[in-house]
Amino acid sequence: MPYYRDTWVEIQLDHLDHNIRSMSERLSADTAIFAVVKANAYGHGYAQIAREALNSGANALCVAFLDEGIHLRKKGLKAPILVLGASRPEDAKLAAEYDISLTVFQEDWLEEAMKFIGQGARLKIHVKCDTGMGRIGIRDLGELKGIEKKLKNNDCFLFEGLFTHFATADELDQSLFNVQLNKFNDYVHSLETKPVYIHCANSAAAMLHNQKNFNAIRFGIAMYGLSPSPEIKPYLPFELKEVFSLHTKIVNVKKVHPGDTVSYGATYTAEQEEWIATIPIGYADGWIRKLQGQEVLVNGKRAQIVGRVCMDQCMIRIPEYSPIGTKVTLIGSQENERITIDDIAVKLETINYEIPCLISARVPRVYVKDNSIVEVYNPILETF
Ligand SMILES: Cc1ncc(COP(=O)(O)O)c(C=O)c1O
Repeated sequence: MPYYRDTWVEIQLDHLDHNIRSMSERLSADTAIFAVVKANAYGHGYAQIAREALNSGANALCVAFLDEGIHLRKKGLKAPILVLGASRPEDAKLAAEYDISLTVFQEDWLEEAMKFIGQGARLKIHVKCDTGMGRIGIRDLGELKGIEKKLKNNDCFLFEGLFTHFATADELDQSLFNVQLNKFNDYVHSLETKPVYIHCANSAAAMLHNQKNFNAIRFGIAMYGLSPSPEIKPYLPFELKEVFSLHTKIVNVKKVHPGDTVSYGATYTAEQEEWIATIPIGYADGWIRKLQGQEVLVNGKRAQIVGRVCMDQCMIRIPEYSPIGTKVTLIGSQENERITIDDIAVKLETINYEIPCLISARVPRVYVKDNSIVEVYNPILETF
């Protein structure tokens, strides 16, 4: 698939493979890896990441919404898919048809869904326990009993999983983590029938606590080579390799004179003769206005974004003349310099998770393996 602008995300599939295999080596043989590919695989591309993750040893996929699961099925993915978020009971039939497992945490939901699931169809269910995250999930053992009974007594359901999600697995203070784990153990021990999967670990829990009592992990941020938090980064048991990098090329270059201004609002004024280059990336690509002042890499040297970031373009002050077509790296490495996703997260006062999600679908994703481009995904030119 082509692309006709010089701004692209590069996805290093070798790094994805490294991160999954390193995790897999630390797990017991009967522990399944659910690769978390919701939100366009954290901005990396649904189907490409799902396929590669499965090739690297993942056993199943997690998404947030049913639409995302259907997207993956339409792209030909056959592995088990679990929707982590809430779904509507009236969509139970569709989920069963696509063989997509849904998360459930209300007995009434099952009652309602039964009206929609067709004769002979079977919907796979994972029951969510809220052990302290305070988001979705059952909150006492009685609720679990009711749901378990309903699942057992109705052939249109298959009780496939029981799970919970930690609020503080990425913090050094483990007090709430331990409370949640104990509560989850209570739910697990109260079960009359064991489902196929019992899971609680996200990346942080899987890496730091190796949840050997349960038989699946939900591996998200670390699969993409990012630490679940800066706090636990020094304690991670293996090296993570960042999968995502962002690049563009200079499309215009000019010498400005003292007093010349740059971009909307004329917020930047040159103090001396300076080289100003324009790069074709802006806030509509997710390179948001707050990134004014952020550094980028040109010929292995740092250059600063000057003036306001526009919708589709922004300007950088470069240390020396560089011709049109010179590569500019916004996230990634050039020679001995590196700008990481964590650096951008610090600049934007947010978490690393948000950064690749921010980079919009307008920026094509270029997939690289063994130093060769294996696929380009440019949703703008997709035929619908
Ligand atoms: C329910 C659930 N499980 C697993 C994950 C993956 O977490 P992480 O990306 O920290 O591995 C998420 C991510 O938000 C989630 O919401």
